Amino acid sequence: MSPTGLTYDPSAHDAVELIRLKRDHGHLSQAQIEWMIAAYTDGYVGDEQMSALAMAILLNGMNRVEIGHWTAAMIASGERMDFSSLRGPDGARRLTADKHSTGGVGDKITLPLAPLVASYGVPVPQLSGRGLGHTGGTLDKLEAIPGWQADLSNSELLRQLDEVNAVICAAGPGLAPADKKLYALRDVTGTVEAIPLIASSIMSKKIAEGTDALVLDVKAGAGAFMKSRADARELARTMVALGTDAGVKTSALLTDMDSPLGLTAGNAIEVEESVEVLSGGGPADVVELTVALAREMLEAVGIRGVDPAENLRNGRAMDSWRAMISAQSGDPDAGLPQAKHSHTITAGVSGTMTRLDAMAVGLAAWRLGAGRARKQDSVQAGAGVRMHAKPGDAVAAGQPLFTLLTDDEHRIARAEEALQGSMDVDTEGGPHETPELVFDRITAADLTG
Ligand code: URA
Repeated sequence: MSPTGLTYDPSAHDAVELIRLKRDHGHLSQAQIEWMIAAYTDGYVGDEQMSALAMAILLNGMNRVEIGHWTAAMIASGERMDFSSLRGPDGARRLTADKHSTGGVGDKITLPLAPLVASYGVPVPQLSGRGLGHTGGTLDKLEAIPGWQADLSNSELLRQLDEVNAVICAAGPGLAPADKKLYALRDVTGTVEAIPLIASSIMSKKIAEGTDALVLDVKAGAGAFMKSRADARELARTMVALGTDAGVKTSALLTDMDSPLGLTAGNAIEVEESVEVLSGGGPADVVELTVALAREMLEAVGIRGVDPAENLRNGRAMDSWRAMISAQSGDPDAGLPQAKHSHTITAGVSGTMTRLDAMAVGLAAWRLGAGRARKQDSVQAGAGVRMHAKPGDAVAAGQPLFTLLTDDEHRIARAEEALQGSMDVDTEGGPHETPELVFDRITAADLTG
């Protein structure tokens, strides 16, 4: 018995033999996969051997059967949560709905989405992470709210779900510990971008979390893991298949991440923008995606025919937000932290903005202190980038394009560097078509054939 609860016989397989098999385009059996995950999580197989296997998987792929076994082995490495005790007044089970985004710049959607769906009486257990690299973390954003606590015990989580319907909190260490170790290794060995490994990493955590329904926001474009729409589609299909096979009602929206979402990338400034959306305002793209994902989550638990935009306008989603923040010791009325320094970048020419590179904006926000380079780093609550124009908008020479916010003035030059060449302005000023935000939807019904 390993410390993770997985059992394995050290002499049953040989890591080198499994690496060679995948290197030579072979398929790993269920027993081989279970052994490798258990032996690696336990420390019997070393980082160097798992790195070699991860690279072989990145180069040669895994088939659906292998991905299913890999995911199941990672789930088995830890605890599984159970929300079946949540009951309505009539004693009937209350189905939970969750959302997962593959990550993008300015992606604060979880913040307005969880209370919006909860305002229809649906429990939303949103176990989230902190940011690494250019994409922000949901917990980092919420921690900008004075007093707000990310860590809840399992019983606190259940109680809050029952009483308030919405919880956004840190995923505990007991959920898919094999993935925690493997993800940290992939991060430093150039093996993050393998579709089988991304799909199994995300879905092992979501299946272990025990949600009844899951909506995936799979992003494609300059600011996403998946740069091409074809790769994003393949990732979405793989994850929908894994969720469906595990009995989770899973669907995916494919969404554009060439440009950042909304007009803010940072922590406190993204909370501020989310509150605008919950007040019935906010940028059109953030509202559109929040409403589209809410509709998908509500339909997945059988609530059809409602327009989720309604509860943004009538204040019910805001009531849920306030209850959710207060339940985790946050003060929804407190002022948010402000950065000590700001610096404005203005437009050199007049015309129509035709491109704004999400990756460059994410990198600038990160360099200003909104993100971390190492897990142990802390983030600045007030740091980030405010955008004053997005693709499709008219810009006039001299008008502000970006406001850079940071507590450390010396960070501004490097952030400015990141933004050089990050956008195009068509000086002819003609109309510009912006790509559709939600460009496809994949459900279990799309997987046959
Ligand atoms: N997010 C995850 O949780 N895992 C991955 O592999 C990539 C993104």
